[in-house]
Amino acid sequence: MIRVENATKLYGRPDANGTAVHALNGVSLHIGHGEFVAIMGPSGCGKSTLLHVLGGLDVLTSGEIYLDNEPVHQLNEEGLTRLRRSKIGFVFQFFNLLPTLTVEENVRLPGVLQNRPANEFAARSAELLAAVGMEHRAHHRLHQLSGGEMQRAALARALLMEPCVLLADEPTGNLDSEASARIVKLFREIGERHRTTIVMVTHSREVAASAHRIVEMRDGRVVTS
Ligand SMILES: Nc1ncnc2c1ncn2[C@@H]1O[C@H](COP(=O)(O)OP(=O)(O)OP(=O)(O)O)[C@@H](O)[C@H]1O
Ligand SMILES: [Mg+2]
Repeated sequence: MIRVENATKLYGRPDANGTAVHALNGVSLHIGHGEFVAIMGPSGCGKSTLLHVLGGLDVLTSGEIYLDNEPVHQLNEEGLTRLRRSKIGFVFQFFNLLPTLTVEENVRLPGVLQNRPANEFAARSAELLAAVGMEHRAHHRLHQLSGGEMQRAALARALLMEPCVLLADEPTGNLDSEASARIVKLFREIGERHRTTIVMVTHSREVAASAHRIVEMRDGRVVTS
């Protein structure tokens, strides 16, 4: 489902006396259809950068990425937008939720962006909010939520369109161990039910242990996979 070949990402210019960073420094990684992979490694080793380039939110400096056989590294802005909307669910550290909408409206937003009828996803959005333990907050606005609640709302939104790939950057970062366990269990269920391919960055060994495989990164490289 995902194939990364010798990917590099350089931030800044090489001649900019020391400020250039090789966030990815020759990453190769294959992830199968329906596989659930946890990415671990120290702060700054390139985990978020890897998720960004996998999801077409940022472009590689060199190398190749194929997602569901599409050459992500060759797509233009229009192609990347289509890929993101049709195939990928994102759960990122900065949630990209819209503050003026309610939780429920935020969850249904991906459907609205695809010009689908407003009520088409009502039942599914209710089901997802229940699954992440947020049904009692459906009509709250964003500023009325805690960090962990926002994170769970973002997760429900990412799952609305049943993406074939779910990219999650520390999805349990603001959650206690009980809420974390519930989210990870939901990931496993979704993976098994829909064969969703899941790539999850986490700093928690306990959370990572629920994945099928742990990929360790150091200094922009994969050191075990
Ligand atoms: N936009 C940017 N411009 C310049 N350098 C960047 C940029 N984004 C990230 N970096 C650098 O690239 C490296 C990798 O960053 P990345 O965010 O991928 O790390 P990470 O593994 O996700 O860390 P963390 O666990 O702290 O989230 C870091 O050294 C960071 O300082
Ligand atoms: Mg990060």
